[in-house]
Amino acid sequence: MRIRVLLVTLCFGRCAANWEQWWTYDGISGPDFWGLLNPDWHLCSRGRAQSPIDLDPQQLLFDPKLRPFIMNPVKVSGTLLNTGHDIVLKLNDTLSPKINITGGPLAYQYTLSEVHIHYGNHDELGSEHTIAGKRFPAEIQFLGYNAELHSNLSEAIELRESSGLVAISVLLQLGNTSHSEFRHITSQLHKITYRDQETPLEDFEIERLLPSTEEYMTYSGSLSQPGCVESVRWIVMNKALQVSKQQLYLLRKLMQGDQDNPKAPLWNNVRPLQALNNRVVYTNIDFKRSKDSRCPTMQKNMYYTANPRNFQDDLTMY
Ligand SMILES: *[C@@H]1O[C@H](CO)[C@@H](O)[C@H](O)[C@H]1NC(C)=O
Ligand SMILES: *[C@@H]1O[C@H](CO)[C@@H](O)[C@H](O)[C@H]1NC(C)=O
Ligand SMILES: *[C@@H]1O[C@H](CO)[C@@H](O)[C@H](O)[C@H]1NC(C)=O
Ligand SMILES: *[C@@H]1O[C@H](CO)[C@@H](O)[C@H](O)[C@H]1NC(C)=O
Repeated sequence: MRIRVLLVTLCFGRCAANWEQWWTYDGISGPDFWGLLNPDWHLCSRGRAQSPIDLDPQQLLFDPKLRPFIMNPVKVSGTLLNTGHDIVLKLNDTLSPKINITGGPLAYQYTLSEVHIHYGNHDELGSEHTIAGKRFPAEIQFLGYNAELHSNLSEAIELRESSGLVAISVLLQLGNTSHSEFRHITSQLHKITYRDQETPLEDFEIERLLPSTEEYMTYSGSLSQPGCVESVRWIVMNKALQVSKQQLYLLRKLMQGDQDNPKAPLWNNVRPLQALNNRVVYTNIDFKRSKDSRCPTMQKNMYYTANPRNFQDDLTMY
Protein backbone atom coordinates (compact mmCIF):
# COMPACT_ATOMS: atom_id res chain seq x y z
CA MET A 1 0.00 0.00 0.00
CA ARG A 2 2.91 2.30 0.74
CA ILE A 3 4.16 1.85 -2.78
CA ARG A 4 0.77 2.68 -4.17
CA VAL A 5 0.58 5.97 -2.29
CA LEU A 6 4.07 6.84 -3.40
CA LEU A 7 3.40 6.11 -7.05
CA VAL A 8 0.12 7.92 -7.11
CA THR A 9 1.82 10.94 -5.62
CA LEU A 10 4.64 10.78 -8.14
CA CYS A 11 2.22 10.57 -10.91
CA PHE A 12 -0.14 13.25 -9.74
CA GLY A 13 -0.19 16.46 -11.69
CA ARG A 14 2.13 15.06 -14.28
CA CYS A 15 -0.22 12.40 -15.45
CA ALA A 16 -3.41 12.06 -13.42
CA ALA A 17 -5.12 14.18 -16.02
CA ASN A 18 -4.73 11.47 -18.59
CA TRP A 19 -4.08 7.94 -17.42
CA GLU A 20 -4.26 6.70 -20.96
CA GLN A 21 -1.10 8.62 -21.85
CA TRP A 22 0.81 7.41 -18.88
CA TRP A 23 1.11 3.66 -18.57
CA THR A 24 4.01 1.79 -20.18
CA TYR A 25 5.41 -1.69 -20.58
CA ASP A 26 8.34 -1.21 -18.22
CA GLY A 27 9.53 0.64 -15.14
CA ILE A 28 7.28 2.18 -12.50
CA SER A 29 4.39 2.61 -14.88
CA GLY A 30 4.81 -0.92 -16.24
CA PRO A 31 2.51 -3.97 -15.99
CA ASP A 32 3.35 -4.74 -12.34
CA PHE A 33 1.94 -1.37 -11.37
CA TRP A 34 -1.02 -0.88 -13.72
CA GLY A 35 -3.45 -2.20 -11.13
CA LEU A 36 -1.94 -0.21 -8.27
CA LEU A 37 -1.87 3.12 -10.00
CA ASN A 38 -5.44 3.58 -11.04
CA PRO A 39 -8.30 2.15 -8.95
CA ASP A 40 -10.28 1.60 -12.15
CA TRP A 41 -7.58 -0.81 -13.25
CA HIS A 42 -7.53 -2.99 -10.14
CA LEU A 43 -8.23 -6.09 -12.25
CA CYS A 44 -4.74 -5.71 -13.76
CA SER A 45 -3.28 -6.81 -10.43
CA ARG A 46 -6.14 -8.63 -8.73
CA GLY A 47 -8.01 -10.24 -11.61
CA ARG A 48 -7.88 -14.03 -11.82
CA ALA A 49 -8.94 -14.43 -15.44
CA GLN A 50 -6.26 -12.33 -17.08
CA SER A 51 -4.51 -12.37 -20.45
CA PRO A 52 -2.17 -13.21 -22.07
CA ILE A 53 -1.45 -16.80 -21.10
CA ASP A 54 0.78 -19.61 -22.23
CA LEU A 55 -1.16 -22.11 -24.32
CA ASP A 56 0.06 -25.52 -23.33
CA PRO A 57 -0.80 -28.12 -25.98
CA GLN A 58 -0.81 -30.82 -23.30
CA GLN A 59 -3.60 -29.09 -21.45
CA LEU A 60 -5.97 -28.28 -24.28
CA LEU A 61 -9.45 -29.68 -24.04
CA PHE A 62 -10.92 -30.81 -27.36
CA ASP A 63 -14.53 -29.72 -27.74
CA PRO A 64 -16.11 -31.47 -30.74
CA LYS A 65 -18.96 -28.95 -30.71
CA LEU A 66 -16.75 -25.97 -31.46
CA ARG A 67 -17.43 -24.86 -35.01
CA PRO A 68 -15.27 -22.54 -37.09
CA PHE A 69 -16.06 -18.88 -36.52
CA ILE A 70 -16.89 -16.50 -39.34
CA MET A 71 -15.48 -13.04 -39.97
CA ASN A 72 -17.12 -11.70 -43.09
CA PRO A 73 -14.83 -10.68 -45.91
CA VAL A 74 -15.44 -7.05 -46.76
CA LYS A 75 -13.13 -4.19 -47.62
CA VAL A 76 -12.92 -1.64 -44.85
CA SER A 77 -11.49 1.77 -44.20
CA GLY A 78 -9.97 2.98 -41.02
CA THR A 79 -7.23 4.89 -39.30
CA LEU A 80 -3.82 3.48 -38.51
CA LEU A 81 -2.58 5.04 -35.28
CA ASN A 82 0.55 5.02 -33.14
CA THR A 83 -0.87 5.16 -29.59
CA GLY A 84 2.55 5.16 -27.90
CA HIS A 85 1.57 1.72 -26.55
CA ASP A 86 1.00 -0.15 -29.77
CA ILE A 87 -0.12 0.17 -33.36
CA VAL A 88 -3.89 0.22 -33.74
CA LEU A 89 -6.06 0.11 -36.81
CA LYS A 90 -9.40 1.68 -35.87
CA LEU A 91 -12.12 0.75 -38.28
CA ASN A 92 -14.43 3.46 -39.50
CA ASP A 93 -17.91 2.00 -39.68
CA THR A 94 -19.48 5.14 -41.08
CA LEU A 95 -17.30 4.70 -44.16
CA SER A 96 -17.46 0.95 -44.61
CA PRO A 97 -19.75 -1.93 -43.70
CA LYS A 98 -19.38 -3.51 -40.29
CA ILE A 99 -17.36 -6.68 -40.06
CA ASN A 100 -19.36 -9.24 -38.13
CA ILE A 101 -17.78 -12.04 -36.17
CA THR A 102 -20.05 -14.96 -35.34
CA GLY A 103 -19.96 -18.67 -34.60
CA GLY A 104 -17.17 -20.67 -33.04
CA PRO A 105 -17.38 -20.25 -29.28
CA LEU A 106 -19.47 -17.07 -29.61
CA ALA A 107 -23.12 -17.01 -28.59
CA TYR A 108 -23.62 -13.42 -29.79
CA GLN A 109 -22.79 -11.46 -32.90
CA TYR A 110 -19.71 -9.26 -32.53
CA THR A 111 -18.54 -6.30 -34.58
CA LEU A 112 -14.84 -5.90 -35.30
CA SER A 113 -13.64 -2.52 -34.08
CA GLU A 114 -9.85 -2.40 -33.68
CA VAL A 115 -6.77 -4.33 -34.70
CA HIS A 116 -3.77 -4.11 -32.36
CA ILE A 117 -0.18 -5.13 -33.07
CA HIS A 118 2.34 -6.25 -30.46
CA TYR A 119 5.93 -7.00 -31.42
CA GLY A 120 9.47 -7.34 -30.11
CA ASN A 121 12.95 -6.06 -30.85
CA HIS A 122 14.06 -9.49 -32.01
CA ASP A 123 12.47 -12.61 -33.45
CA GLU A 124 12.09 -14.53 -30.18
CA LEU A 125 10.08 -11.80 -28.49
CA GLY A 126 6.92 -9.93 -29.38
CA SER A 127 3.82 -12.07 -29.12
CA GLU A 128 1.78 -11.80 -25.94
CA HIS A 129 0.45 -15.35 -26.04
CA THR A 130 2.97 -18.16 -26.10
CA ILE A 131 2.59 -21.73 -27.35
CA ALA A 132 4.25 -24.25 -25.05
CA GLY A 133 6.43 -21.43 -23.78
CA LYS A 134 7.49 -20.33 -27.25
CA ARG A 135 7.19 -16.68 -28.19
CA PHE A 136 6.65 -15.41 -31.69
CA PRO A 137 8.02 -12.12 -33.10
CA ALA A 138 4.62 -10.41 -33.21
CA GLU A 139 0.92 -10.87 -32.53
CA ILE A 140 -2.06 -9.28 -34.23
CA GLN A 141 -5.17 -8.96 -32.08
CA PHE A 142 -8.59 -8.31 -33.62
CA LEU A 143 -10.85 -6.74 -31.03
CA GLY A 144 -14.63 -6.78 -31.41
CA TYR A 145 -17.60 -5.84 -29.23
CA ASN A 146 -20.87 -7.63 -28.62
CA ALA A 147 -23.11 -5.93 -31.16
CA GLU A 148 -26.29 -7.34 -29.67
CA LEU A 149 -25.68 -5.78 -26.25
CA HIS A 150 -23.54 -2.75 -26.99
CA SER A 151 -23.37 0.08 -29.48
CA ASN A 152 -19.60 0.45 -29.62
CA LEU A 153 -16.29 -0.79 -28.24
CA SER A 154 -15.88 1.77 -25.48
CA GLU A 155 -19.33 1.03 -24.13
CA ALA A 156 -18.60 -2.72 -24.12
CA ILE A 157 -15.32 -2.13 -22.26
CA GLU A 158 -16.92 0.18 -19.71
CA LEU A 159 -19.90 -2.01 -18.89
CA ARG A 160 -17.73 -5.09 -18.27
CA GLU A 161 -20.46 -7.58 -19.07
CA SER A 162 -19.17 -11.08 -19.29
CA SER A 163 -19.62 -11.61 -23.02
CA GLY A 164 -18.84 -8.02 -23.99
CA LEU A 165 -15.73 -8.55 -26.09
CA VAL A 166 -13.98 -10.93 -28.44
CA ALA A 167 -10.27 -10.93 -29.30
CA ILE A 168 -8.90 -13.02 -32.12
CA SER A 169 -5.18 -13.54 -31.96
CA VAL A 170 -2.88 -14.31 -34.87
CA LEU A 171 0.75 -15.00 -34.13
CA LEU A 172 3.29 -13.89 -36.72
CA GLN A 173 6.24 -15.91 -37.83
CA LEU A 174 9.30 -14.99 -39.83
CA GLY A 175 9.02 -16.33 -43.36
CA ASN A 176 10.63 -15.73 -46.73
CA THR A 177 7.96 -13.64 -48.38
CA SER A 178 6.27 -10.47 -47.35
CA HIS A 179 2.58 -10.92 -46.54
CA SER A 180 0.60 -8.87 -49.04
CA GLU A 181 -2.25 -7.68 -46.82
CA PHE A 182 0.07 -7.03 -43.90
CA ARG A 183 2.10 -4.92 -46.34
CA HIS A 184 -0.93 -2.62 -46.52
CA ILE A 185 -0.11 -1.76 -42.92
CA THR A 186 3.69 -1.91 -42.98
CA SER A 187 3.92 0.34 -46.05
CA GLN A 188 2.21 3.11 -44.03
CA LEU A 189 4.25 2.79 -40.86
CA HIS A 190 6.72 5.52 -41.80
CA LYS A 191 3.84 7.99 -41.48
CA ILE A 192 3.19 7.06 -37.87
CA THR A 193 6.69 6.84 -36.43
CA TYR A 194 5.69 8.92 -33.40
CA ARG A 195 2.93 8.84 -30.82
CA ASP A 196 -0.48 10.14 -31.87
CA GLN A 197 0.42 10.19 -35.54
CA GLU A 198 -2.22 8.57 -37.68
CA THR A 199 -2.87 7.83 -41.31
CA PRO A 200 -5.96 6.65 -43.17
CA LEU A 201 -6.09 3.14 -44.54
CA GLU A 202 -8.50 2.26 -47.31
CA ASP A 203 -9.77 -0.86 -49.05
CA PHE A 204 -8.27 -3.07 -46.46
CA GLU A 205 -9.25 -6.75 -46.58
CA ILE A 206 -8.89 -7.49 -42.95
CA GLU A 207 -9.90 -11.13 -42.99
CA ARG A 208 -6.87 -11.81 -45.20
CA LEU A 209 -4.81 -11.32 -42.06
CA LEU A 210 -6.33 -14.53 -40.74
CA PRO A 211 -4.25 -17.62 -41.44
CA SER A 212 -5.74 -20.36 -43.59
CA THR A 213 -7.00 -22.59 -40.85
CA GLU A 214 -10.27 -23.19 -39.06
CA GLU A 215 -8.45 -24.47 -36.01
CA TYR A 216 -8.15 -22.39 -32.88
CA MET A 217 -7.81 -22.44 -29.12
CA THR A 218 -10.23 -20.46 -26.99
CA TYR A 219 -10.43 -19.33 -23.39
CA SER A 220 -12.00 -16.64 -21.34
CA GLY A 221 -9.67 -13.81 -20.38
CA SER A 222 -9.10 -10.09 -20.27
CA LEU A 223 -7.83 -7.15 -22.24
CA SER A 224 -4.03 -7.29 -22.08
CA GLN A 225 -3.84 -3.53 -21.53
CA PRO A 226 -5.32 -1.33 -18.76
CA GLY A 227 -7.95 -1.66 -17.36
CA CYS A 228 -7.64 -5.43 -18.02
CA VAL A 229 -11.42 -5.99 -17.99
CA GLU A 230 -12.29 -9.67 -17.86
CA SER A 231 -14.97 -9.83 -20.48
CA VAL A 232 -12.93 -11.12 -23.39
CA ARG A 233 -13.48 -14.38 -25.22
CA TRP A 234 -10.05 -15.09 -26.74
CA ILE A 235 -9.66 -17.09 -29.93
CA VAL A 236 -6.05 -17.93 -30.79
CA MET A 237 -5.57 -19.25 -34.32
CA ASN A 238 -3.65 -22.49 -34.67
CA LYS A 239 -1.39 -21.32 -37.45
CA ALA A 240 1.04 -18.46 -37.65
CA LEU A 241 1.01 -15.87 -40.39
CA GLN A 242 4.28 -15.65 -42.30
CA VAL A 243 5.75 -12.18 -42.65
CA SER A 244 9.13 -11.04 -43.89
CA LYS A 245 12.15 -9.74 -42.03
CA GLN A 246 11.65 -6.39 -43.70
CA GLN A 247 8.07 -6.14 -42.41
CA LEU A 248 9.23 -6.77 -38.84
CA TYR A 249 12.05 -4.29 -39.37
CA LEU A 250 9.56 -1.57 -40.33
CA LEU A 251 7.61 -2.16 -37.11
CA ARG A 252 10.79 -1.92 -35.08
CA LYS A 253 11.48 1.63 -36.26
CA LEU A 254 8.42 3.07 -34.48
CA MET A 255 8.78 5.17 -31.33
CA GLN A 256 6.81 5.57 -28.09
CA GLY A 257 7.02 9.33 -27.81
CA ASP A 258 6.34 12.29 -30.04
CA GLN A 259 8.73 13.93 -32.45
CA ASP A 260 10.25 16.28 -29.86
CA ASN A 261 10.70 13.55 -27.30
CA PRO A 262 10.66 10.17 -29.05
CA LYS A 263 11.52 8.32 -25.80
CA ALA A 264 12.14 4.65 -26.46
CA PRO A 265 11.22 2.39 -29.38
CA LEU A 266 7.68 1.05 -29.30
CA TRP A 267 8.85 -2.55 -29.45
CA ASN A 268 8.43 -5.10 -26.63
CA ASN A 269 4.91 -3.91 -25.90
CA VAL A 270 4.16 -7.26 -24.33
CA ARG A 271 2.33 -7.86 -21.08
CA PRO A 272 3.89 -10.70 -19.04
CA LEU A 273 2.10 -14.06 -19.00
CA GLN A 274 -0.77 -14.35 -16.53
CA ALA A 275 -1.73 -17.34 -14.39
CA LEU A 276 -4.36 -19.68 -15.79
CA ASN A 277 -6.07 -20.10 -12.37
CA ASN A 278 -8.21 -23.13 -13.15
CA ARG A 279 -9.41 -21.81 -16.47
CA VAL A 280 -9.71 -24.36 -19.24
CA VAL A 281 -8.47 -23.72 -22.76
CA TYR A 282 -10.74 -25.38 -25.30
CA THR A 283 -9.88 -26.25 -28.86
CA ASN A 284 -11.47 -27.51 -32.03
CA ILE A 285 -8.19 -29.07 -33.16
CA ASP A 286 -8.97 -32.70 -33.76
CA PHE A 287 -5.61 -34.04 -32.75
CA LYS A 288 -5.94 -37.44 -34.34
CA ARG A 289 -6.97 -35.99 -37.66
CA SER A 290 -4.37 -33.24 -37.55
CA LYS A 291 -1.69 -35.83 -37.05
CA ASP A 292 -2.85 -38.01 -39.89
CA SER A 293 -3.32 -35.27 -42.41
CA ARG A 294 -0.27 -33.36 -41.21
CA CYS A 295 -2.28 -30.20 -40.94
CA PRO A 296 -0.19 -27.11 -40.47
CA THR A 297 0.29 -26.10 -36.88
CA MET A 298 2.25 -23.37 -35.16
CA GLN A 299 5.51 -25.11 -35.69
CA LYS A 300 6.17 -27.35 -38.60
CA ASN A 301 7.38 -30.27 -36.57
CA MET A 302 5.13 -29.96 -33.59
CA TYR A 303 1.69 -31.40 -33.31
CA TYR A 304 -0.50 -30.69 -30.38
CA THR A 305 -1.59 -33.59 -28.28
CA ALA A 306 -4.70 -33.43 -26.19
CA ASN A 307 -4.71 -34.73 -22.71
CA PRO A 308 -7.24 -37.58 -22.92
CA ARG A 309 -7.77 -37.40 -19.17
CA ASN A 310 -9.44 -34.06 -19.68
CA PHE A 311 -11.78 -35.18 -22.37
CA GLN A 312 -15.41 -34.51 -21.64
CA ASP A 313 -18.31 -34.57 -23.99
CA ASP A 314 -20.50 -32.28 -22.04
CA LEU A 315 -19.01 -28.83 -21.87
CA THR A 316 -20.98 -26.18 -20.14
CA MET A 317 -18.48 -23.37 -19.98
CA TYR A 318 -19.83 -21.32 -22.82
C1 LIG B 1 -14.83 8.12 -40.47
O1 LIG B 1 -14.73 8.78 -41.70
C2 LIG B 1 -15.47 9.98 -41.74
C3 LIG B 1 -15.40 10.52 -43.16
O2 LIG B 1 -14.08 10.61 -43.59
C4 LIG B 1 -14.86 10.96 -40.73
O3 LIG B 1 -15.59 12.16 -40.75
C5 LIG B 1 -14.93 10.32 -39.34
O4 LIG B 1 -14.29 11.17 -38.41
C6 LIG B 1 -14.27 8.98 -39.36
N1 LIG B 1 -14.48 8.34 -38.07
C7 LIG B 1 -13.50 7.76 -37.40
C8 LIG B 1 -13.89 7.12 -36.10
O5 LIG B 1 -12.35 7.73 -37.80
C1 LIG C 1 -23.40 -7.56 -40.14
O1 LIG C 1 -24.60 -7.77 -39.43
C2 LIG C 1 -25.55 -6.76 -39.60
C3 LIG C 1 -26.70 -7.05 -38.66
O2 LIG C 1 -27.07 -8.40 -38.70
C4 LIG C 1 -25.99 -6.73 -41.05
O3 LIG C 1 -26.93 -5.70 -41.25
C5 LIG C 1 -24.75 -6.46 -41.91
O4 LIG C 1 -25.10 -6.49 -43.26
C6 LIG C 1 -23.67 -7.48 -41.62
N1 LIG C 1 -22.46 -7.07 -42.32
C7 LIG C 1 -21.97 -7.76 -43.34
C8 LIG C 1 -20.75 -7.19 -43.99
O5 LIG C 1 -22.46 -8.80 -43.74
C1 LIG D 1 -20.63 4.69 -27.64
O1 LIG D 1 -21.99 4.50 -27.36
C2 LIG D 1 -22.44 5.29 -26.28
C3 LIG D 1 -23.88 4.88 -25.97
O2 LIG D 1 -24.64 4.80 -27.14
C4 LIG D 1 -22.30 6.77 -26.65
O3 LIG D 1 -22.75 7.58 -25.57
C5 LIG D 1 -20.84 7.07 -26.94
O4 LIG D 1 -20.69 8.40 -27.37
C6 LIG D 1 -20.31 6.13 -27.99
N1 LIG D 1 -18.88 6.30 -28.08
C7 LIG D 1 -18.25 6.38 -29.23
C8 LIG D 1 -16.77 6.52 -29.14
O5 LIG D 1 -18.82 6.34 -30.29
C1 LIG E 1 13.59 -19.58 -46.81
O1 LIG E 1 14.50 -19.72 -47.87
C2 LIG E 1 15.67 -20.43 -47.50
C3 LIG E 1 16.65 -20.40 -48.68
O2 LIG E 1 15.93 -20.37 -49.89
C4 LIG E 1 15.30 -21.84 -47.08
O3 LIG E 1 16.44 -22.58 -46.70
C5 LIG E 1 14.36 -21.76 -45.90
O4 LIG E 1 13.90 -23.04 -45.53
C6 LIG E 1 13.14 -20.89 -46.23
N1 LIG E 1 12.39 -20.67 -45.02
C7 LIG E 1 11.06 -20.81 -44.98
C8 LIG E 1 10.44 -20.52 -43.66
O5 LIG E 1 10.38 -21.10 -45.93
